[in-house]
Amino acid sequence: MKRRVLTGITTTGTPHLGNYVGAIRPAIAASRKGDVESFYFLADYHALIKCDEPARIQQSTLEIAASWLACGLDPEKVYFYRQSDIPEIPELTWMLTCVTAKGLLNRAHAYKAANDANREKGEDPDAGINAGLYMYPVLMAADILLFNANQVPVGRDQIQHIEMARDIGQRFNYLYGGGSSLDRTQWDEKGWNEEGEKFFALPEALIEDNVATLPGLDGRKMSKSYNNTIPLWLPEKELRKAILGIVTNSQAPGEPKNPDESHIFSIYQAFASADETSAMRKAFADGIGWGDAKQKVFERINVELAPMRARYETLIAKPGDIEDALLAGAEKARALAQPLLTRLRNAVGLRSLRVQSVDDSSSAKTTRDDKPALQPVVFRGDDKAFAFKVLDAKKNVLATQGGFADPKAAMAAAQAAMSALS
Ligand code: TRP
Repeated sequence: MKRRVLTGITTTGTPHLGNYVGAIRPAIAASRKGDVESFYFLADYHALIKCDEPARIQQSTLEIAASWLACGLDPEKVYFYRQSDIPEIPELTWMLTCVTAKGLLNRAHAYKAANDANREKGEDPDAGINAGLYMYPVLMAADILLFNANQVPVGRDQIQHIEMARDIGQRFNYLYGGGSSLDRTQWDEKGWNEEGEKFFALPEALIEDNVATLPGLDGRKMSKSYNNTIPLWLPEKELRKAILGIVTNSQAPGEPKNPDESHIFSIYQAFASADETSAMRKAFADGIGWGDAKQKVFERINVELAPMRARYETLIAKPGDIEDALLAGAEKARALAQPLLTRLRNAVGLRSLRVQSVDDSSSAKTTRDDKPALQPVVFRGDDKAFAFKVLDAKKNVLATQGGFADPKAAMAAAQAAMSALS
């Protein structure tokens, strides 16, 4: 069975060069490998959490979809869809909500950061926080679990969300599936194991360490939140102007320059071949002026983008064609989602009254009232930080989280997780 790789893009902004280098380009390259099934979707339900401008969400959806297609994503080979075209996602979100410990969501970084900011201002901790932000990890878990994704390429800031998706999926499997947690590879081709008891594969975050993060106009990481981005599809002249505007130091032409301390060089490197990069290294040592170096960066980026820019312009001029592509993608994705939802509805008891009632309580099913004996375990993660797991009597992991500075903090968090779970 092929590995499934899935990722979502929140539709609130205009794609910039950093998105291209850090996400779009590597994802499209990965989707061309034969050993994976790729899922890319426009996370427009997530966009609603932080954006109440309808026109901006629609425009962003159009621009992001057109960008991925222009950069070479082949919708015939991958699953490419818009989240809000898949009604199974909000339906699953509710089912997952009902097995998610509220305490788990209390610990989500994004929610906690908003809480802390309020406390610092002396306000009510929940002031101005919508319940969408609070539920964000559950919606994201539904995105991932619905398609039994094995790997989720995300930035480091999203790792906790993937861990939560694992926890939530595991808890659902445990409550409704009779306990065991297997790898998806252990299922038969219908998608469940011989006992027919497993629902969700447990996803892992995929952190690409060798993907470049692109510096922005001010030298910090290019990011919408720093307001230092260069939009991906600027017309040629404006792209050149933007690149000439990147900050540099005051070294004069003729002075040797250190490529490893230069944003201009890092940007060049993110686009250039190995040979081109070493030629540029030499030019730096020989004292190339900043103006000339920036001109070379512009030319190199423009060579790569020009054919895609032409495709982008054609695509964006026909929003109807993009709409059709997304709807076709949704149909393909729903063909996978619907049979799983049928099983899930049946599993939780949302069933036709014509079907004779099955006495689930007599089977091996675990119920919430079983109150399994919970056990905290503290260990050291791969990153050397401390982490905890909460295990039940059958050694199922009910909660886990890493990144603690010392074992005491990890144990305290484990205790909090246990009280939230029981
Ligand atoms: N939260 C992700 C982000 O902000 C976007 C997202 C939504 C996502 N659902 C997802 C990413 C599912 C991966 C898988 O980047």
